[in-house]
Amino acid sequence: MTQQTTVYLADYRPYSHPLDRVELTFRLAPQATRVVARLHFRPDPARSPGADLRLDGEGLRLIRLALDGTPLDCQPDDTGLTLPAALLPADPFVLETEVEIAPVGNTALEGLYMSNGMYCTQCEAEGFRKITYYPDRPDVMARFHVRIESDLPVLLSNGNPAGQGPGWAEWDDPWPKPAYLFALVAGELVALPDHFLTTSGREVALNIWVRAGDESRCAYAMDALKRSMRWDEQVYGREYDLDVFNIVAVDDFNMGAMENKGLNIFNSKLVLASPQTATDTDYERIEAVIAHEYFHNWTGNRITCRDWFQLCLKEGLTVFRDQQFSGDMRSHAVKRIEDVQALRARQFREDQGPLAHPVRPDSFVEINNFYTATVYEKGAEVIGMLKRLVGDAEYARALDLYFARHDGEAATIEDWLKVFEDATGRDLGQFKRWYTEAGTPRLTVQEEWKDGIYSLTLEQHLPPTPGQPVKAPKVIPVAVGLLNPNGDEVQPTTVLELTETRQSFRFEGLASRPVASILRGFSAPVVLDRAVSAAERAFLLAHDTDPFNRWEAGRALAKEVLADLAAGAPTVGPDWLEAMVRLVQDDSLDPAFRALALRLPGEDDMAATLAAAGKQPDPAALHTARRRMAAALAGALAPALPGLMEATQITGAFSPDAVQAGKRALHNACLGLLSLRDGGAAAEAAFAAATNMTDSLAALAALLEIGRGQPQLDAFEARWRGDRLVMDKWFMVQVLHAAPDQTARTVERLTARADFDWKNPNRFRSVIGALSANHAGFHYQDGASYRLLADWLLRLDPKNPQTAARMSTAFETWRRYDSGRQGLIRAELARILATSGLSRDLAEMATRMAG
Ligand code: BES
Ligand code: ZN
Repeated sequence: MTQQTTVYLADYRPYSHPLDRVELTFRLAPQATRVVARLHFRPDPARSPGADLRLDGEGLRLIRLALDGTPLDCQPDDTGLTLPAALLPADPFVLETEVEIAPVGNTALEGLYMSNGMYCTQCEAEGFRKITYYPDRPDVMARFHVRIESDLPVLLSNGNPAGQGPGWAEWDDPWPKPAYLFALVAGELVALPDHFLTTSGREVALNIWVRAGDESRCAYAMDALKRSMRWDEQVYGREYDLDVFNIVAVDDFNMGAMENKGLNIFNSKLVLASPQTATDTDYERIEAVIAHEYFHNWTGNRITCRDWFQLCLKEGLTVFRDQQFSGDMRSHAVKRIEDVQALRARQFREDQGPLAHPVRPDSFVEINNFYTATVYEKGAEVIGMLKRLVGDAEYARALDLYFARHDGEAATIEDWLKVFEDATGRDLGQFKRWYTEAGTPRLTVQEEWKDGIYSLTLEQHLPPTPGQPVKAPKVIPVAVGLLNPNGDEVQPTTVLELTETRQSFRFEGLASRPVASILRGFSAPVVLDRAVSAAERAFLLAHDTDPFNRWEAGRALAKEVLADLAAGAPTVGPDWLEAMVRLVQDDSLDPAFRALALRLPGEDDMAATLAAAGKQPDPAALHTARRRMAAALAGALAPALPGLMEATQITGAFSPDAVQAGKRALHNACLGLLSLRDGGAAAEAAFAAATNMTDSLAALAALLEIGRGQPQLDAFEARWRGDRLVMDKWFMVQVLHAAPDQTARTVERLTARADFDWKNPNRFRSVIGALSANHAGFHYQDGASYRLLADWLLRLDPKNPQTAARMSTAFETWRRYDSGRQGLIRAELARILATSGLSRDLAEMATRMAG
């Protein structure tokens, strides 16, 4: 197996040789690109007296090495180049290297690679070392000047344009940056141009660069970009700081998008959108990701991370900011529910299993494996809690201080917390545990009503996680409101601060025993363990003034119904059905909210919930139970469905805005239910009549759910076979909605097709990712899906280890299941680990999961 060297936070040392300025020249050629680097070092004898100079470099052919013009004879090793201290001058010096690299063979999509004839780069986290010899670490910040030589018409890099001519272009970035923010793009591209005037009057040229023909699908992304720029000025007081802002869409990309300074690179699925090709969910995601990468310009680029252990400093904060933005653009209530659903599905799942790690990990083997739901989503939750604890005004003051104090620096979580302590006078020593300890706290609740006093006793339980068996109590903000029995709010939302293991809070002056709404807005990323009667849940679902908890009451009821059915209950009881019938017809409620409330709990979510409660989930039983539950809901709603579908029918032109999207979501939820009763007639008609991708795909999914839809799949394919992004949806929908005993076979059929281009991460994810997202199909008893996944991971790993490692997390939940399934999954993990030449990425993941 590849050597697994562990890197520890505790071993951090500043870099030995300060670097001021970098000049790079690229002579682009697919097989043999030359990169000339001139690194201007400024020795600081105080910093590391007598230290050797170590540069990172991987897969580079060293052509030339010179120090202040004099050739040097140093042999690189597998991971870099060391210049002995004895060779280094005491005065500033220039180290020049020339290397050769082959972008065309780069299937890992890290460093300089080619996608559809175009050159592009991806350097975060440690990809720059595949481009040239360099101190590839985020605390080395330098000014970059870049020259690109190529006959391709569009040549882009970071910063501002600094000249161009036939066959060349130069770029100059005035802002010091770490190498991970470097980017270069060259290709036959066309732009959607626009411009933005900053509050202080700076004119910024905006461009979204795409392949010819795709310009017409860029308008929404451009609009989202301009709204993001304005929002960051208005809400965080942050202006853009260059003359140009370029976005490029590429088809082959491991992640969603990347915030390179002044030159963001995006997975094309997160830029290109038209009503015919993109769903409402795609539009919402594009808006969020455009904002996210733009917001990094301040939270990530101007202030960056000292080392990769501090990743949440930029990612958690930037996710928090993009969530705020999306809430402002759309609906805060709906956005919060969606974010919590995603947190539970991805982060709670991670926290419950062998991959659990703190928001700030203290060791890693491969940093690419730590771009996780914990770092991102829990990292964002931690910031939300901080804001809740200090209040909005203090949060704003702290952020101002953060930007003032650390602009131009590479900072740490300690720096971040110190800013909050200095701005607010609070001691955040206990709060810091949210960053250093893994695991999802569980909160239990005891209520007492006596002599007109209502008291709430909260107790926190901190589960053991890998390497962290015992933990001290955390500070947990618990937002609580009280309702009286007729549904009026008698205690508006107040934030209780739980700081001890067990603590009581008293509410006086109440006329009658109240109904408590606890953890409003999901005020902390915890599991609330509370036995509540179905009647009380139905009451909260009907009356809570907090929209999140209203939804949560419905969700909890639904989960109880599903658990009972899976455990053998003969029918669905009336509480949940009656509540749904009322809710769905309540026109005072946002259609988007109603659509979310109608969505049944996912099978994986349910399996996690059962496992956390000490029960063993049976995937097949859960699947059957969920189908029965959907049928019961469809039955109860049957009289209401035609009217609702009529009321949510959109007349007039398509708009991707939240209002129309919400109506479509409710309309299509109704369509899905109706098709359980009408044999698919309505869905067939809807598919035929659809004029946008949201409606087409919803109708197709509804048909596949009831075992129909082949003619529609064929029609879809005939129309869209030339469109990669739309065909990804075609692949995915078939796997997601395959019956459990057909899932592996469906994947085998699809992966045998000529257009299953598995080296393209989007296409791979659309089939192999969907395989593990189909819970009952993935966990089908014969283990065929487990084998299939492992086969594909092993096939992808030598080409693209990052994506292979990411997809392997499908196996992280094995401990939840029966011994038969456990054995099957462990056998696949063992088979992976026994494979020779495994990447460091996949080896680390399989080792941790098997452990
Ligand atoms: N900096 C990341 C992109 C990245 C991640 C590069 C991992 C290299 C390795 C970027 O800002 C990011 O977080 N992108 C997310 C989307 C975002 C909206 C959470 C992504 O790519 O999924
Ligand atoms: Zn990010």
